[in-house]
Amino acid sequence: MIRKEKNYFIISTERSSYIFRVLETGHIDHVMYGARIDDTEGLDYVSESFDLNIGTVPYYDEEHPHLFPDRILSEYPVPGSGDTRECALELDYGNGTETMTLLFRDYRIYKGKDNSFPAHAECDEETETLEVRLSDEVLPITVVINYTVYEKEDVILRSARIINGTDHCVRLKRAASLSIDFPYDDFDLISFDGAWARERNEHRRHLLPGITVLDSKLGTSSNEHSPLAYIVRRTTGEVYGFNLIYSGNHMEAFDVSPFGKTRVTTGINPFMFEWMLESGESFQTPEAVITYAGSLDDAALSFHHFINRYIVRGEWQYRERPVLINNWEATYFALSEEKLLALADKAAELGFELFVLDDGWFGDRRNDTKGLGDWTVSHEVFPNGLEAFSEKIHERGLKFGIWVEPEMVNPDSDLFRTHPEWAIMIPGRKPAISRHQLVLDMSRPDVREYLYTSLEKVFSAASVDYVKWDMNRTITDCFSSSSECRGNGELMHRYILGIYDLMGRLVKRFPSVLFESCASGGNRYDLGMLCFMPQTWTSDNTDLYHRLWIQEGTLRGFPQSTMGAHVSASPGHQSLRCSLIESRFDVAAFGTLGYELDLTKLSETDQKAVKGEIEFYKRYRKVFQYGDFRPLPSENDESIWWSVTLEGTTIAMEMVKRNMPNTGRCDRLRLPFLKKGRMYRIRNRRIIMPREFFGDHWQSWNREENEKMDIRVAGDIITTCGIALGPQFAGNGFFKETRPIGDNGTRMYVIEEI
Ligand code: DGJ
Repeated sequence: MIRKEKNYFIISTERSSYIFRVLETGHIDHVMYGARIDDTEGLDYVSESFDLNIGTVPYYDEEHPHLFPDRILSEYPVPGSGDTRECALELDYGNGTETMTLLFRDYRIYKGKDNSFPAHAECDEETETLEVRLSDEVLPITVVINYTVYEKEDVILRSARIINGTDHCVRLKRAASLSIDFPYDDFDLISFDGAWARERNEHRRHLLPGITVLDSKLGTSSNEHSPLAYIVRRTTGEVYGFNLIYSGNHMEAFDVSPFGKTRVTTGINPFMFEWMLESGESFQTPEAVITYAGSLDDAALSFHHFINRYIVRGEWQYRERPVLINNWEATYFALSEEKLLALADKAAELGFELFVLDDGWFGDRRNDTKGLGDWTVSHEVFPNGLEAFSEKIHERGLKFGIWVEPEMVNPDSDLFRTHPEWAIMIPGRKPAISRHQLVLDMSRPDVREYLYTSLEKVFSAASVDYVKWDMNRTITDCFSSSSECRGNGELMHRYILGIYDLMGRLVKRFPSVLFESCASGGNRYDLGMLCFMPQTWTSDNTDLYHRLWIQEGTLRGFPQSTMGAHVSASPGHQSLRCSLIESRFDVAAFGTLGYELDLTKLSETDQKAVKGEIEFYKRYRKVFQYGDFRPLPSENDESIWWSVTLEGTTIAMEMVKRNMPNTGRCDRLRLPFLKKGRMYRIRNRRIIMPREFFGDHWQSWNREENEKMDIRVAGDIITTCGIALGPQFAGNGFFKETRPIGDNGTRMYVIEEI
């Protein structure tokens, strides 16, 4: 709900309020963002913008000697006129950065929202937007800041549009999506950082006076620093979450002033960014997504609900996602139709639903040095063509999926030989190479047209049901030969706009196809991509131990339905760690499940296990893909995850013992989130015991399956006391786990309300 009371704008969601006001001078002054406020009596006494003027701080003018631009809680700060903190906007008329003072002009509250940026959240009849128009005191520059409210999800979107009202071109050097000033400085910052194979690991640190920056300069939203971040007030535990609907270079700056205030700025990274804004033109920023909650878990769930409802769209929204087999780690580039069909046969027998043909099926692509860009099938691999192969997959009762990496070109390819000018390179300079490939200039309409035509042909001819869209290198050597790109500073952003244009066209042409984006694993896991592709490949690292952090970090901001999670071989290709296939499944189950290993090489026991896992996953798929996910805090060396259906009646819960404790301690499992007055039935997932693992020494460990546990427990007991799990060594509790759990051993339980 959005309302204006006197000079206050009050934006409220079910559990939060965001308030700012217009001062008599026209300056905008943020008042509060926090728990919902309905009664506004006394609001005039809240603001603390006018704190003590100690020393030489500039004030606005002689009529307002207590209005210090450097102390105002601004909503869109500009440089030069006294506010020395991080600014949201920077413009150059040709003479360096312009000094500005943005003042309020008018506003509009309306149903829905203006969707002019290509990657944007959807809206419906419940959505409302506040548009506030500001302009500079002297220059004919207008800034429109937007606030769109999603009440049920407790989410607010912020974005800005910069309009050049002058009669000449202006150089835009930065334009943030969001700037908020908090009147506190007691924050911890939670960020999600990493690199290839260790994406989105959660880090927490104190914010201290000075600027802390998270950003990406890779040309993607990156695995180094995600645009997802939280700040948590140390004194109250209140949480503010931030994300961006954008897939390119971004920056999140946290500027703690020595005056007890914290400014958060998010948006396109000003690094190597410039935009030529011609007279009369406007520049629309991507949308920033914010939420407020009393705890990190609640904030993450608000983001999950929002993403499932307003970011993911089309036929796959809220739809159960298929269990897939991907051939990448089973074959790498050693492809043959015979091998692939043997894999498909086994997959069909074990209950899989989708077969994904990964890299190496096209052109001269027999290894990663050549062929990228030539999107025609290799008859060396598929003598009868791709259509015939797809038909054979479909005949086996499986859907057919295919891998592509459209944005790239190998210098050793027909495409590069024909169109070297399509690759991003600087004339006269040797370009940086990565994985033997160069990046295609997606700002060029002719490049996009070539890709659209080639991919459209492949997808339609082979009746493709699923596409894995990969992107495997950083963008360097900024230069575009396209006339649309007015200088190097525009390329990174135009590249992303180009990608959105191409993806948008293909997604529209193939509305039933399930698209999964990928960038060397999770190097472009962001809300921009999710607007077009409902799933993302989380990480190339499928090691179950590393995945505990990668998946838990990812789920801090993105729902399970978007998170590709696969079971791969043991020892794992990324870690050489050995683990049970049942444990690998238990971890991968909390996402969109897939396997990427050679099923034909699995032992009989493991095949039986996989069959059971898939059956189990299908039965509880709704809980795993769309349930409310929370990690349960634990002091022991373990991870406990649970996911509950939105109706709250079925819960999947999994426990991973990272290190098997050498004690006889009997843990109690307490589930505080269940309802006290209800009755629950708790069952374990029966798992196949690998006989060869244990030998014949112990009678009790030598059963084919672990014992079935099926108990009734009152909500009162399980929420308050917990139930005994039995010593982890030789389990003997009610759960009757008749084998040691082992390092990275797991247990999965299903709890249903009776
Ligand atoms: C990188 C991806 O992350 C992998 O899953 C795989 O598709 C390879 N590329 C193929 O080259």
